[in-house]
Amino acid sequence: MIRKAGECDISQIAACEACCFPLPLSARAIADMLKNPLYLFLVAEDQGTFAGHAAILFTGETAEILSVAVLPAFREKGLATKLLEETEKQTFRNDAIEMLLEVRISNLPAIRLYEKYGFEKIALRKNFYSAPPEDGITMRKGIKLP
Ligand SMILES: CC(C)(COP(=O)(O)OP(=O)(O)OC[C@H]1O[C@@H](n2cnc3c(N)ncnc32)[C@H](O)[C@@H]1OP(=O)(O)O)[C@@H](O)C(=O)NCCC(=O)NCCS
Repeated sequence: MIRKAGECDISQIAACEACCFPLPLSARAIADMLKNPLYLFLVAEDQGTFAGHAAILFTGETAEILSVAVLPAFREKGLATKLLEETEKQTFRNDAIEMLLEVRISNLPAIRLYEKYGFEKIALRKNFYSAPPEDGITMRKGIKLP
């Protein structure tokens, strides 16, 4: 099940960030973002248990995907795909026309996930990441209007 996050999810989202990323969003940053209508957090649950989340920033015509993260015990069960499906629905509802994201060039599971979902590589960003330093790839998926 995918649902919108609320304040009660902050600690689990922060723990998931810390588990999945070298430079995670802090609980304080997540709390501030949840109060800002430009940000959306989605939570994925597996039989009622927190399993992962997505963070999205809406800037006009673009929905920028800041994080997609699934806890290790719940991976390869389709949850990230479900988070992307809901992100795409919300992108359409917000009148945005594209989803954009950055991914580390070595993160093959994530690149495969995004490519399978229809994202295309549109730019290589040299030294985009720190800790550890690494190139990033910008990926894009356009939203098709019905
Ligand atoms: C990347 C990540 C979000 C995938 O989550 P997930 O719920 O396991 O993904 P799904 O089950 O929806 O997988 C969908 C597709 O992604 C690809 N994929 C997922 N995990 C993979 C892996 N370990 N190796 C290769 N491909 C993988 C596959 O193409 C898969 O399709 P398939 O099942 O038909 O093979 C998860 O591994 C994760 O949280 N990683 C750490 C955080 C991260 O790197 N986030 C992305 C950058 S923002």
